[in-house]
Order: sequence, then structure tokens, then C-alpha cells
Amino acid sequence: MPARLRALIDRIAPMPGGPSLPVWPWTVRAFHWSLVLCVAVAAATGFLGGMSALSLHLAAGIAIPVLILLRIGVGLFGPGYARFDSFPPSPRAALEHLENIRGGRHERHLGHNPAGALMVYAMLAVLLLIVLTGTAALAGMFRQGPFRSFIGFDTGWLIYGLHQPLAWLLVAMIAAHLWGVWFESRRGHENLVAAMIHGRKAADPPAPPPPRRRAMPWLAAGSGIGAVGVLTLIVLRASAAPASGLPPAKLDHTYAEQCGSCHTPYSPVLAPASVWRQLMGDLRHHFGEDASLGDPALHQRILGYLLANSAEHADTLVSHMMMRRDPADPMRITATRFWQFMHGGIPARVFARKKVGGRSNCDACHRDAQSGRFLPENIEIPESAE
Ligand code: HEC
Ligand code: HEC
Repeated sequence: MPARLRALIDRIAPMPGGPSLPVWPWTVRAFHWSLVLCVAVAAATGFLGGMSALSLHLAAGIAIPVLILLRIGVGLFGPGYARFDSFPPSPRAALEHLENIRGGRHERHLGHNPAGALMVYAMLAVLLLIVLTGTAALAGMFRQGPFRSFIGFDTGWLIYGLHQPLAWLLVAMIAAHLWGVWFESRRGHENLVAAMIHGRKAADPPAPPPPRRRAMPWLAAGSGIGAVGVLTLIVLRASAAPASGLPPAKLDHTYAEQCGSCHTPYSPVLAPASVWRQLMGDLRHHFGEDASLGDPALHQRILGYLLANSAEHADTLVSHMMMRRDPADPMRITATRFWQFMHGGIPARVFARKKVGGRSNCDACHRDAQSGRFLPENIEIPESAE
């Protein structure tokens, strides 16, 4: 490590004065701070980021179970205080610990104290629930991820209702965890944050040693990495499984030609059958233009195509939301509550850019607009101000 970096770390995390003992191996410290980073990114993109930050949100959400699996390998086969059996989850011991604090009896724990240990397991459990509910939501809304073939919109939407409350619960737990670290640092006159950085704690006052088990580094690494490998294979296979409820991937050629001459041809998934029927019923007065097709056979064919692929025939976020029309202006996609909600944060001058070409020109910002998918990863607003 370069000397300047070493000096900086020593400043941030001063070593205990006097003799010290190794407590947290590098694996535990690397896990801890990587998890902090991933949770911070997931929380920032989730609470503040909106749909366009979803890719980053998912990257953090994928890294979290990977980190937890690696940590489980170390917890089962790693050294000393890293082992789960050095801090068993015991509500009874945790209560006793809190009683001791109330009674002013100070008992030193070099590893996690029983209350801290319980919080560690609780936080990991809630994190995994957040990842699972997010994965279910992804399947229901966008037909993506490992649950895509068996979770539809209704189930995904219901489970999504738990995702954010669980995230708030985690925020509360993190606050309690930070308070605990601050409290115990003050009570024991030691810097617990520094210990999670350099890994060492003062040897005095003495504390019970960790369980005397031999660390098995190869088994710890092998089991963690093996579990990540198996999970990756399962997730990749499941994410490639066919999903039902998707709109047609490509627009019908004739439809695209006829209804794409004045504006972008809209995917049939963007309106329910009743709207398509009404719209096709009066093409002569089509938003102030005459859009009639002339040939009745052609008209019939396009109507049939729109009805056969309307919003009712898909099962995604877009299809469900596009069925909820504005009663005052049911024909317009851009008048739906959902569309307004999603685009409310985009300034009018962005829609006015030449390269965007107005609100109704979905293709300008949604690379997959014609497939009716509207995946957040395919959103890109043309930047130039022209
Ligand atoms: C002659 C030109 C023309 C043709 C052909 C045409 N349209 Fe339109 N369409 C318009 C205009 C103009 C608007 C209003 C655009 C606006 O106000 O932003 C519009 C709007 C729409 C909208 C509402 C978009 C929104 O902002 O929510 C839909 C849906 C639509 N058209 C469907 C169709 C279909 C289906 C066809 C083929 C049968 C078709 N259009 C053919 C001119 C046309
Ligand atoms: C100026 C660029 C722009 C145009 C034009 C535009 N959108 Fe969007 N749209 C966005 C952005 C940006 C978001 C993400 C907002 C956020 O981050 O919450 C979004 C979000 C969405 C979403 C929800 C997220 C998703 O990926 O499913 C849907 C559905 C959607 N747009 C449909 C449409 C449709 C339909 C049209 C055309 C009638 C349209 N948009 C026109 C930029 C645009």
C-alpha cells in the first residue's frame, strides 16, 4: 500500500494505543464496506432516481445477494470473530445485554455484542426480502429477471407494495445500528468504526476469546464462490425463460406504413380495444386531420390488428396503465394519468427540442417504443438543444 494512503487511513482510523488484537479479517471488512456502498447506491437510486436510474438500482440490487453469499461462506468456515457461531442470533442474550447496559455493568465483547449480532442477522434478512420483492416487481412490471415466467403484473404489483416499506424498515434498522455503534464506542472508550476499517481492537480490557476453530480459507472461499456460481446459472436460465403477456415485438408492416406516415406508429399495447375502436371509427376527424384510409379492406385489417394486440392482450406495467384513460380525453396516450406522472419531471423545453419532436414522439426517447416494451434501460433523451 502506498505510504500516503497508509497515512490517510491511519488518520481516519487511528490504531488503538497499546497492544491490540486482530478482530475483523479483511473479508469481513471488505464485505461490510462493499455492502454499505451497494445499499447507499440502491437507496439513492430507489428513493430519488426514478425509472431512468433503474439500471444502476438493479446493479446494486444484484451485488447485494452476491456479497451476502460470500459472507455466508466466511461465516461458516472463516476465522475467529467472522464465524456465525461466534455471534449466534439469540434474543435472550440480546435482552440480557441491554439489561446489563441499564444496570451499568460493562461486559466487553471483542466481536459483535449479542444485541449487535441480532441486528446483523435482522438487517441481512430484511435486505434479502428487499431483493426478492424487487425481483418480483421487475418480473410483474417489465417481464424481466428470474421470476419473469411465473409472476404476472397483478402479483408483481402487489409484492411491489412491500418493496418500499421494507426499504424504510431497513433505513430505520441502519439508524439503530449506527446509534448502537456510537453508543458502544462511547461506553467502551473505543472507536468501533476504526476497528471495522483496520480490523484491530485494544487487547485491554480482556474479553472472552472467539470460538477456537481452525479457519478453512479454501472452504470459505470455495463455498461462497460456488454458491454465487450456482445462483448465477439459475438466474441466467430463469431470466431467459419465455414469458407470457408481452406485446408483439415488431409492428405489423402495413400498420406501421399507414399509421406511421404523420407520426410515429404507436404500439397497439398503448390503448385498450375500446379506444382503438373509437379512434378507427372516425379517422376523418382524427385530431384535426383527415387520416382516413380509403380502402375498407385495409381499414378492416388495421382495425383487426389493433384489436388483437390491444392493451388487454398484454400483461405489463405499460399495458395495465394504458387501460386507465382520462375520461375527458380518452383518445390520447399522453393524457393518461400514468403518462403525465412519468413525464411530469421533464421540462417542456426538452420536448420542444428538434431531435425530440414533441410529447407524442415516443421513439425519440424510448429506443424500444415500437415493441411496446418501454423498458427503463432503453430510455435515452436526445441531448442536443437544437
Ligand atoms: C394525416 C396524418 C395522420 C395519420 C395518417 C394518422 N394520424 Fe394519428 N395523429 C395525427 C395528429 C395530427 C395527431 C395529434 C398529434 C398531437 O396533437 O400531438 C395524432 C394523434 C394520434 C394519437 C394520440 C397520440 C397522443 O399524443 O396521445 C393516436 C393514438 C393516433 N394518432 C393513432 C393513429 C392511428 C392508429 C393511425 C392509423 C389509422 C393514425 N393515427 C394515422 C395525424 C395522423
Ligand atoms: C423527451 C423524451 C421522452 C418522450 C418523447 C417520451 N418519453 Fe416516456 N419517459 C421518458 C423518461 C425520461 C422516462 C423516465 C422518467 C423517470 O425517470 O421516472 C419515461 C418513462 C416512461 C414510461 C415508464 C417507464 C418505463 O420504462 O416503462 C413509459 C411507459 C413511457 N415513458 C411511455 C412513453 C410513451 C408512450 C411516449 C409517447 C407517447 C413517451 N413515453 C414519450 C422520456 C420520454
